[in-house]
Amino acid sequence: MNTIAGLRAVLDERRRGGASVALVPTMGALHDGHLALVRRARELADVVVVSIFVNPLQFGPTEDLDRYPRTLEADVAALSGLGVDVVFAPDVAEMYPDGSAAGTKVTAGPVGGRYEGAHRPGHFDGMLTVVAKLFSIAQPDVAVFGQKDAQQVFLVTRMVADLDLRLRIEVVPTVREADGLALSSRNRFLDGRERVAALVLAESLDAARTSAADGASELLAEGVAAFGDHDGVDLDYFVVVDPATFLPVDEEFRGRALVLVAARVGTTRLIDNAFVEIGADAGADAGPDARAELPPSPAE
Ligand code: PAF
Repeated sequence: MNTIAGLRAVLDERRRGGASVALVPTMGALHDGHLALVRRARELADVVVVSIFVNPLQFGPTEDLDRYPRTLEADVAALSGLGVDVVFAPDVAEMYPDGSAAGTKVTAGPVGGRYEGAHRPGHFDGMLTVVAKLFSIAQPDVAVFGQKDAQQVFLVTRMVADLDLRLRIEVVPTVREADGLALSSRNRFLDGRERVAALVLAESLDAARTSAADGASELLAEGVAAFGDHDGVDLDYFVVVDPATFLPVDEEFRGRALVLVAARVGTTRLIDNAFVEIGADAGADAGPDARAELPPSPAE
């Protein structure tokens, strides 16, 4: 399905019969992390829609829009057997008939300019704009997002609250390889040496977690130190935030916090995050997403 009118017609029909709708927005290049979102969506609603759209609006002029993997056939094959009702894969002209730069945009609040937003100016405005359009087109009861893009989850949740949108956001823990690397569509760009080096992101989060008992400064120092001797890895940021505000915590902060890390491994930019419990015993459970981890499921 690649037209807005076509998707709306199918969903209107199902809704008339009383069906609820779950939306899983993606940019394709699907991996087990995406499939976990789809499985959760299948549990939550009668009709599951997966959108596949590489959104030009959320890529900066020097970013990897052209290189971003487009694997529609493989994506559709990966989704088969998961009970997906509609794959919505519009082209750019369908989503932005007047060109992506021309129209109305959603603007993220101040948090949109921090962390990922500071390194990727305009990224979150572009992301929120397409997500708002997808919500308007599909009018889902629930939309499912991955915890790996923690700042995206925060901003989408804020947008839903701020604009009084009538849907619920469901967040699914990050899926990791057996050695801890968070699944990402960009992992396919890593060569063998970079793939090993990329483990430093998950290792730095582990280091931060084990020193969380000693407070935010110690946690940060340990996490950043983990990057010390990794050639070819450039740390963009390592920060600990209050999940309620997404602002950096101070030294007095106690309780559940979120550690965010971003780094360039060769030419590939990767992000990861983990919940920690600041001020509690090392290794204390920071809640259901403590390690934000699920084992990858067997190949579909
Ligand atoms: O997380 C992504 O893949 C994208 O940011 C999203 C939510 C599909 C919007 O383009």
